[in-house]
Amino acid sequence: MYNELFCQDEGAGASIVLLHGFAEDGTVWDNQLEALQTAGRLIIPDLPGSGRSPLGGTTLSMESMADDVLALLDRRGIEKTILIGHSMGGYISLAFAARHPGRLNALGLFHSTAYPDSEEKKAIRRKAIEFIRANGSAPFIRQSTANLFSPLTRQHRPELIESVISRYANFAPDALIGYYEAMIARPDRTAVLREFNGPVLFILGKDDAIIPAQQVLEQSWMPAIAQIHIVPEAGHEAMLENPKLSNQLLLDFINFVSES
Ligand code: MLT
Repeated sequence: MYNELFCQDEGAGASIVLLHGFAEDGTVWDNQLEALQTAGRLIIPDLPGSGRSPLGGTTLSMESMADDVLALLDRRGIEKTILIGHSMGGYISLAFAARHPGRLNALGLFHSTAYPDSEEKKAIRRKAIEFIRANGSAPFIRQSTANLFSPLTRQHRPELIESVISRYANFAPDALIGYYEAMIARPDRTAVLREFNGPVLFILGKDDAIIPAQQVLEQSWMPAIAQIHIVPEAGHEAMLENPKLSNQLLLDFINFVSES
């Protein structure tokens, strides 16, 4: 049983799926929509409980959401795709690669990691779940969003941060809690990086406070073929903080995959 996801489907040619992260929806990729369409068919779903996709009745896991993505490829008759995920979207992409490796031409981790949660991180998430249960989504989104951005963005572009807060303040609390529980439960996926036989893209934020660049660099030697880029002066949201460079890096990778 899978969730039918709302999805933007633009352009033509080889398929590129972009998965958003926690407490976001597909519109987080709006800055990429035009630029990346020059390279192929862009498929940008809203994950269950985000944007225009209903939460559905099933318990969320990285595997269930990976299978929701598989179902949307199957419905469109897409045999193979490049799959790039932002943060939690990267955890889902890794689960997809573990389950359906033959359906991928390439994999991209955009501010994401193959490591599981540490015990400390699990405890932080459990506290956040209690906070959301007690206070609802809006105070949680207001309190947690600034930390997603680099010090430079916080100093010079407070309006960008405010726009993200107001866009997601009404996020369904059950979805946020479901994502947190799914992230707590996710396994170590470093074996996927070691065994995946296509190209892997790593995009890191130099000032990412959520997934530190150093932690991802430790994993970047694992795949047989990898591209590794560090976006300067970006936190956890380079697609918003530095869309021009993000688009360039994504396009270079997509072109590299289609030529190889
Ligand atoms: C995300 O942006 O998807 C989350 O912050 C990831 C995480 O908390 O591990």
